[in-house]
Amino acid sequence: MKKSDAFDIGHAGFDDAAAIFALIKDHPAELVPRALSDIVQNIDRFIVGRAGGAVVGTVSWQILPEIGVAKDPSIEIKSLAVADPYRRRGLARLLVERAIESVRPLNATRLVVLTFSPEFFRKLGFSEVRKEELMHKLYAGCVNCTRYDSPFTCPEVAMSLDCRDEG
Ligand SMILES: CC(C)(COP(=O)(O)OP(=O)(O)OC[C@H]1O[C@@H](n2cnc3c(N)ncnc32)[C@H](O)[C@@H]1OP(=O)(O)O)[C@@H](O)C(=O)NCCC(=O)NCCS
Repeated sequence: MKKSDAFDIGHAGFDDAAAIFALIKDHPAELVPRALSDIVQNIDRFIVGRAGGAVVGTVSWQILPEIGVAKDPSIEIKSLAVADPYRRRGLARLLVERAIESVRPLNATRLVVLTFSPEFFRKLGFSEVRKEELMHKLYAGCVNCTRYDSPFTCPEVAMSLDCRDEG
């Protein structure tokens, strides 16, 4: 049995919201905090991983703003967290792969992420892009940042995965 076989991966339900809230809250250095009400209102955009019935990992996505007719519709992968004891067993990979599968019918141009774990995302096929490339999309979020004075002093790495190259 592979280590990752120990996890059940699936779409979140309202009953999972409190556990998702706690997982995100546990990682203030890496994740943008999210209010419980935000999680509840976007619960259909969350995937969870369970071990022994308990939620031990999560990921979500957000459709990024587009000006005018969507020529380059992009989806941001966000709020990825795995509880410490369950790390390095393939859970985050399963979560992100399920999220990618879930958004595939939307036919986005690409998935993007701002991350402190670029090596993890590189293993899933993401590659680094200049932040300027995403600024028109991510400005809406970064402009409200209370930790860095500018996206260019923020150490997070911008990465993207082209969806339409996958065939
Ligand atoms: C980053 C995080 C989600 C990874 O979760 P995980 O379940 O341990 O990751 P996986 O086991 O699925 O790892 C998949 C691959 O990436 C590698 N990897 C995982 N975390 C890594 C890291 N921080 N740096 C480099 N490689 C990493 C694994 O070794 C594995 O490689 P392999 O396929 O060659 O064996 C987890 O460490 C976490 O929750 N961190 C705190 C929150 C955070 O940083 N979220 C990401 C914000 S975008």
